[in-house]
Amino acid sequence: MSTVPAPKPPTDNQHLLQWVQEMAALTRPERIVWCDGSEAERERLTALAVKEGVLIELDQSKRPGCYYHRSNPNDVARMENLTFICAPTKEEAGPTNNWMDPAEAYKKLGALFEGAMAGRTMYVVPYVMGPLGSPMAKIGVELTDSVYVALNMRIMTRMGKPALDMLGGSDDFNRGLHSTLDCNPERRFICHFPQDNTIWSIGSGYGGNVLLGKKCLALRIGSALGRNEGWLAEHMLILGVESPEGETTYVAAAFPSACGKTNFAMMIPPRRFDGWKIWTVGDDIAWMRVGSDGRLWAINPENGYFGVAPGTSMKSNPMAMATVARDTIFTNVALTPDGDVWWEGMDGPPPEQLTDWKGQPWTPASKEKAAHPNSRFTAPMRNNPSLSKYADDPSGVPISAIIFGGRRATTIPLVLQSFNWGHGVYLGATLGSETTAAATGKVGVVRRDPMAMLPFCGYNMGDYFQHWLRMQHKLVLPPKVFMVNWFRQHEGRFLWPGFGENMRVLKWVVDRARGRVGAMETVIGWVPRVGDLDLHGIQVAEDDVDLATRVDYREWRTELESQAEFFAQFGERIPRSLLLWREMLLARLNGLPS
Ligand code: OXD
Ligand code: MN
Repeated sequence: MSTVPAPKPPTDNQHLLQWVQEMAALTRPERIVWCDGSEAERERLTALAVKEGVLIELDQSKRPGCYYHRSNPNDVARMENLTFICAPTKEEAGPTNNWMDPAEAYKKLGALFEGAMAGRTMYVVPYVMGPLGSPMAKIGVELTDSVYVALNMRIMTRMGKPALDMLGGSDDFNRGLHSTLDCNPERRFICHFPQDNTIWSIGSGYGGNVLLGKKCLALRIGSALGRNEGWLAEHMLILGVESPEGETTYVAAAFPSACGKTNFAMMIPPRRFDGWKIWTVGDDIAWMRVGSDGRLWAINPENGYFGVAPGTSMKSNPMAMATVARDTIFTNVALTPDGDVWWEGMDGPPPEQLTDWKGQPWTPASKEKAAHPNSRFTAPMRNNPSLSKYADDPSGVPISAIIFGGRRATTIPLVLQSFNWGHGVYLGATLGSETTAAATGKVGVVRRDPMAMLPFCGYNMGDYFQHWLRMQHKLVLPPKVFMVNWFRQHEGRFLWPGFGENMRVLKWVVDRARGRVGAMETVIGWVPRVGDLDLHGIQVAEDDVDLATRVDYREWRTELESQAEFFAQFGERIPRSLLLWREMLLARLNGLPS
C-alpha cells in the first residue's frame, strides 16, 4: 500500500503547527488541508462541494460565481441557549450569558470532538479580522471539517496566505475548532474561552455558530480582548455620509439583530438629498479604538456580508441586490426552476413554481414560506457599489456620531441626542426592542438589548458598561451619542415612513455632531424642534413628526421602572453612575406635571 505524503504545511510557526497537530490528534481527520485563499483553491473547493452535494451551482449566466446551500432544517439560526462563555467564574460571564466551567467545557466538548473528523478533511483556515496590516486587526485560525465553512470564511474574512504572513512566528492568534459532527442539537455547543483566546463549536453548520471570525471572535472574544486592551468591539454598522460639498462624516450605529442594519448601511438618500451619498464601511461589526488625536477610530473587521435575504429588494436595498449578483453563497433561500434564487419580499410577484428551502416543491398557494425567514447571502464587500474607499484602510475612519436604535411602538422619540458621553452610555445600556407586536398595533414586550450586544458580550455586562464609561478618559473628542426609533406608533399606525427617509434623521445627527443645527432640550435629552429636521418633500403630516419626537412623561416613568428591573440583575456590578443617571432622570420627570 502506498501512501501519499501529506503536503508540507505552509508555515514554520511552531505554536500553530503544534496546536494543529494536537487538534488533529483529538479529532483524527483523514487529511489536513491548509487553505491559502487563492482563486485556484476556491475553484477546487467549490467543485468538491458541488460534487458532494454541499453546494448547488446556480445558473452562471444569471448569477456568475453563485452557489446555493441548504442547511439541516434543525440548524438554521444562532442558538443562544447552546452558546456559552467559559470564563473562570460564572460572575465573570455575568447574568446575561450562559456559563460553563472552562475545565468542564473542554472535557465535555473534548469527548465529542474525539474522532469527530474521522474519514473527513480538516481544513486549516487562517484569517485576519480587519484590514491587512492594521494595528487594530486580529488573527484567527479556524480548524473545520466543513468545506462550506472554508468557502464562507473566504468571503467573510481576509483568508489564507496573507493571514499566515501577518502572523509570522507569533503565538497571538485565536484558536477556533469546529466540527459539524452529526448536526444533532443534543450535541451542539458553541463555547468561548476568553482567557485562552479559544473557541470550540460543535454540532452546527449554521453561519453564526460556525463562521468563527464573526460573532464568536469579532464580538464575544473581541469584546473581552477589548476590555483588557482598552478598545471596543461592537455590534455596529459603520457608514460615511458625504454632503454635496464633499464633506464626509462617519457614523457607527447599533441595532438589534434583524432590525435593518444592512439596509441602513447601504441607504440611498431620497430625491431631496440629491448630491448626498452614503458609503458603507461595515454592516454588522465595528472595532473602535481611541487614536492619538483623541478621536474614536473604527474599522470593520469583516470582508463580506452575511445578510438576511428575505425583505431584501430593489426597493429596500438596491446596493445589496447589486452585491449578491455574483460570487455569492445563498443559504436556505428558495430555488427557481431556471437556476436562480428567490425569497419573500423580493421584487415582483412570486414565481409560479419554486423549490423551497427544505427542497420541497412550492407554489404561491403553499402555506409555508419558500425561503427560511433567516435565510442568508454571503457576499464579498467589494461587490457593494457603495463601498467606502476606506473600508480597507488600516487606520479605519474617525467616528463623529454613535446611534443606538430599537423597535419601540411608544416612549422612544424618533431621534434623541444624549446630554454627554455618560448619558449616551446610559441610552445604549437601556436600549430595548419590542417583539413584532407592532404589526398588530399592540405594544409588544420590551427585550432589553444593551448596545445590541446582549447575545454577543463575552463578559459581565455590568463590567462592559463600566468599560464604555471609562473610554471617556481617553477620548478628547468623543462622538456625540444618539438614540433613534423608526417604529413609533399612534393609534395603530407608524408615525415615520422609514427607509430612505431616515436620511433626514441622519442629516440632523450629522449636523448636531458638527454643531450646526438646533435642538430642544427635554428632561431626557435633545430632540429636533420644528424646522430642525429637513421635511421638505416628505409625505408626513407635521403633527405626526411632532408625535414621533414627543417626550411623554407618563411613558417615561414606566420606562424608567422597567430599566431599574433590568439593571437590578447585575447587582453590585452595575456602574453607580448609570444608577445615578436613572435617578436623576426620574427626579427631573417627577418635578414636572404629568
Ligand atoms: C446577527 C447577524 O444575528 O448579524 O446579528 O447574523
Ligand atoms: Mn448582527
